[in-house]
Amino acid sequence: MNQRLTSQIVKFSFSFLFCLGLLTPRFSHADSTAVAAAGAPAPAAAAAGGGDAVGGEAVFKANCKQCHAINDVVVGPALKDAHKRWPSKEKLAGFIKYPQKVIEGGNAYAKGLYDKYKQFMPNHDFLSDKDIDNVIAYVVKESENPTVAKDDKKIGPDTPEKGGDEGSGLLAPVIAILLVTLLVVIILLLVVINLVSKILSQKKEELNPDDIDQMDGSINWGTMFGHPLFKGVVAFIFVVMIGKVVFDQFYAIGIQQGYAPDQPIAFSHKLHAGMYEIDCNYCHTGVNKGKSATIPAANICMNCHNVIKTESPQIKKIWNAVENNQPIKWVRIHNLPDLAYFNHAQHVKVGGIECEKCHGPIKEMEVVQQHSPLTMGWCINCHRETVVKTEGNAYYDKMVEIHQANHGTNKLKVEDIGGLECSKCHY
Ligand code: HEC
Ligand code: HEC
Ligand code: HEC
Ligand code: HEC
Ligand code: HEC
Ligand code: HEC
Repeated sequence: MNQRLTSQIVKFSFSFLFCLGLLTPRFSHADSTAVAAAGAPAPAAAAAGGGDAVGGEAVFKANCKQCHAINDVVVGPALKDAHKRWPSKEKLAGFIKYPQKVIEGGNAYAKGLYDKYKQFMPNHDFLSDKDIDNVIAYVVKESENPTVAKDDKKIGPDTPEKGGDEGSGLLAPVIAILLVTLLVVIILLLVVINLVSKILSQKKEELNPDDIDQMDGSINWGTMFGHPLFKGVVAFIFVVMIGKVVFDQFYAIGIQQGYAPDQPIAFSHKLHAGMYEIDCNYCHTGVNKGKSATIPAANICMNCHNVIKTESPQIKKIWNAVENNQPIKWVRIHNLPDLAYFNHAQHVKVGGIECEKCHGPIKEMEVVQQHSPLTMGWCINCHRETVVKTEGNAYYDKMVEIHQANHGTNKLKVEDIGGLECSKCHY
């Protein structure tokens, strides 16, 4: 009998662990929202050659990320183990500073790289030696991460470093500890059951017939489901799942300031809106028309990129999207919950508010990140403080008149035109 019981318990344990296994990866999703808390203070990790990997991460994000990833080819090669491909750190630093010089100077390896990627990496002579040291330290540190796939970077023991102060990073290790504890408990139980049944079978003749039946009988699912252990386990799973839902809700409410997910194409606002001064409206055609600012379709990119930089692998991705008639899968950054209504035209066209007021210095962002908290308090605060542009808008003339009469000022705040009414923002 004890074999049978044991094997049932083993089966049960495995299916239980399997279920947990299915559950756990979902916990990590919340982490992905925290990944990009740019520059979040992380414990300084071992850095090669005295460079500081934490500082290096910031340098990397600001100067290299548009063309490089650690594990993926972007515009330039994947940087995993790049330091091992160069004879010395000085040579590597020299390359990062003046790549063109090194390639043209006859370095065979660099020449080979250029032949492969058919593009010059820009000079980084504006970076200090310290910055370059740091960014190399960052590459060294990231290379040591065992993970390969993009998404996996967010899972596993290095999460607390990446998650920064968001707290979400703590979740994965906690779950891991719980899992291990559970496993230990299950093993202990198995050992105890084994022992007990061994002792019992030695004393079989002393037992009364009912108990022998019980021992020999096949497992009774009814009793098992009623068993305190089973109930405990179910309760545990339940609590964990509720915890997760609550946790996700916190994120869904939109406290995601700094959220800057990886995008499928390394599109840079700094380059397009900043350096080339392309008007926001040129791409975000909805801003003056209605609720959504809209994300440009690939066709808009093609207005320029059918001739500009056509050989770039990044631009080829746009071509592919157009040819296959498939939208580029941009990851959405700003996202209010469904219960709230926000209208761009109301704010941009009617209210005359600059994009930067809400979205921050977009023209300097290599990768867009959420600048404002997007909470209800944030909306309300601005409505309390901001004076409505009423001049030249006949619609407000009457209101201004009344306001002047009642309050002795013609300065209408958004509050005064109903900007704090629940129904204005909630359907
Ligand atoms: C505009 C795109 C671009 C930017 C920005 C850029 N790189 Fe590169 N990088 C490349 C390309 C392309 C290559 C391949 C060599 C070549 O063709 O010049 C390369 C090669 C490299 C290599 C050699 C890789 C190897 O396998 O040996 C390293 C290291 C490197 N880059 C580091 C950096 C660092 C660090 C930064 C930021 C400070 C940076 N790159 C910024 C495009 C870029
Ligand atoms: C050449 C086209 C182009 C121009 C010009 C441009 N953008 Fe964008 N914008 C994009 C694309 C493509 C995305 C989606 C990819 C991304 O997030 O980087 C985007 C994303 C955004 C987002 C984040 C959207 C989200 O997912 O929540 C904001 C905010 C934004 N742009 C604001 C601006 C502002 C402000 C300007 C002007 C200063 C501007 N953009 C100019 C193409 C453009
Ligand atoms: C008004 C013209 C214009 C539009 C529209 C435009 N771009 Fe660009 N784009 C440029 C210019 C100019 C460059 C810089 C080319 C260079 O460095 O030589 C550039 C560079 C890029 C690069 C860097 C390519 C590389 O390998 O260095 C990417 C990626 C890019 N654009 C993506 C997009 C996407 C995605 C869109 C559509 C949302 C878009 N662009 C729309 C003008 C435009
Ligand atoms: C008063 C604050 C405010 C101003 C001003 C503002 N935005 Fe937004 N923007 C938001 C909010 C809030 C969201 C999220 C909307 C949602 O999730 O429904 C958003 C979302 C976006 C998005 C994502 C796509 C979408 O429409 O949901 C883009 C792109 C964008 N804004 C671009 C712009 C540009 C370009 C301007 C300037 C012309 C601008 N915004 C001005 C608050 C603002
Ligand atoms: C100026 C716009 C605005 C006004 C006015 C406004 N809200 Fe909100 N409200 C929001 C936004 C945006 C959110 C979503 C962001 C958040 O949860 O902080 C929200 C979220 C909420 C939520 C959900 C909070 C949660 O935890 O999910 C409730 C409930 C709510 N509002 C009630 C009200 C009530 C009641 C009023 C009237 C007294 C009101 N709101 C007025 C913009 C507004
Ligand atoms: C930077 C300041 C600012 C922020 C932030 C802001 N608003 Fe506004 N909002 C305004 C101004 C100014 C107006 C008045 C526009 C006009 O002249 O009609 C306005 C008007 C509105 C109106 C129309 C009110 C009416 O009575 O006609 C709604 C609805 C609204 N905002 C929703 C929101 C929501 C939702 C958010 C947050 C997600 C938000 N606003 C954030 C400045 C802001």
